[in-house]
Amino acid sequence: MENYRPTKAIVNLQAIQENLRNLKRYLPHRTSVIAVVKADGYGHGEVEVARAAIAAGARMVSVATPDEALHLRNCGITADILVMGLSPVRFAEKAAALGIHLAVSDAGWLRQAADYVKEVDHPLSVHVKIDSGMGRIGLRDEIALQDIVEVIEGSTTIRLAGAFTHFACADEENPSQTKEQFKRFIEFVDKFPQRPPLVHASNSAAALLYPQYALDAVRFGISLYGIAPSTYVGAKLPFDLKKAFTLETELAYVKKLGKGERISYGGTYETMHDEWIGTLPVGYADGLKRGLRNQDVLIGGERMPIVGTICMDQCMVKLTREFAAGEKVTLIGRQGDEEITMEEWADRLGTIPYEIAVTVGKRVPRIY
Ligand SMILES: Cc1ncc(COP(=O)(O)O)c(C=O)c1O
Repeated sequence: MENYRPTKAIVNLQAIQENLRNLKRYLPHRTSVIAVVKADGYGHGEVEVARAAIAAGARMVSVATPDEALHLRNCGITADILVMGLSPVRFAEKAAALGIHLAVSDAGWLRQAADYVKEVDHPLSVHVKIDSGMGRIGLRDEIALQDIVEVIEGSTTIRLAGAFTHFACADEENPSQTKEQFKRFIEFVDKFPQRPPLVHASNSAAALLYPQYALDAVRFGISLYGIAPSTYVGAKLPFDLKKAFTLETELAYVKKLGKGERISYGGTYETMHDEWIGTLPVGYADGLKRGLRNQDVLIGGERMPIVGTICMDQCMVKLTREFAAGEKVTLIGRQGDEEITMEEWADRLGTIPYEIAVTVGKRVPRIY
């Protein structure tokens, strides 16, 4: 697509591949990696990340919704795809035909799904979701599990492909909830008449901190992209994570203002003396949230703050000196010794880096 705007996200697919390879080296040999590429690959680009992850040795990819899985298939991703959220039952037929694995949480859903899937040659692959303590989706008792097993055993078009659970607190210092969830999950897994082919529990935090819980596969999301799930995990990493995302733009316009001039909507910033002010062609419609006013950007290797209200498509920065229009500006990423991370934005906004990753707008082209 033609693009004339200097605002762009640069995604380093090699960094993603390096993170994945390092994880594989660190985990037990029998553990494979499911690359989590939901939410457009955490904002990095679902298809490109899936392709890179598979080339680097991911066994399969996972997404949150049926539509995300379809998009991957339509773009030529042939690897197994798991939809981790619940899908409408009418998706079962298409999922079976396209080799898309679905999560199942109850027997009623599965019975209906079996009615949709007619072709024995293309059975529907399901991963039974067990709620070991997240309290979101998944079955919680043995009777529900028995019901599901009964449906699977009585059907020629449903194939048990896996069983999984999700940890709620693996990124925290206290391991007790994760330990308890793992114990409960294994108790469930032991109740299947035969062990499901792919048993998986860990997200990034658990994969990095508890290799003993790695089982057959881990679902590697945020850290695939080089981001630590939490400050706690960041301080305990078994290997360095390489950040894959840079957000850049250029100075669109530069002016010198005298003392007492006001900047942007509401006039909330007032120059205190002669100041060089630069305008950036990036705003909250691109994910530069209004709460990021006063956040630094990098220009010429130096930090300079965003001043005044951030507009939908533009914002202003206070320059340390005169720069020419066209000068490179880094909003997330590195210039020389200085680095601005998603974690820094997240701290300023009172959120987590996950939310930052998925907030950079679709309007910002991704360059690989
Ligand atoms: C079910 C499930 N598994 C795995 C992941 C990946 O988690 P993370 O990004 O912390 O690695 C997620 C993401 O939230 C998830 O919902």
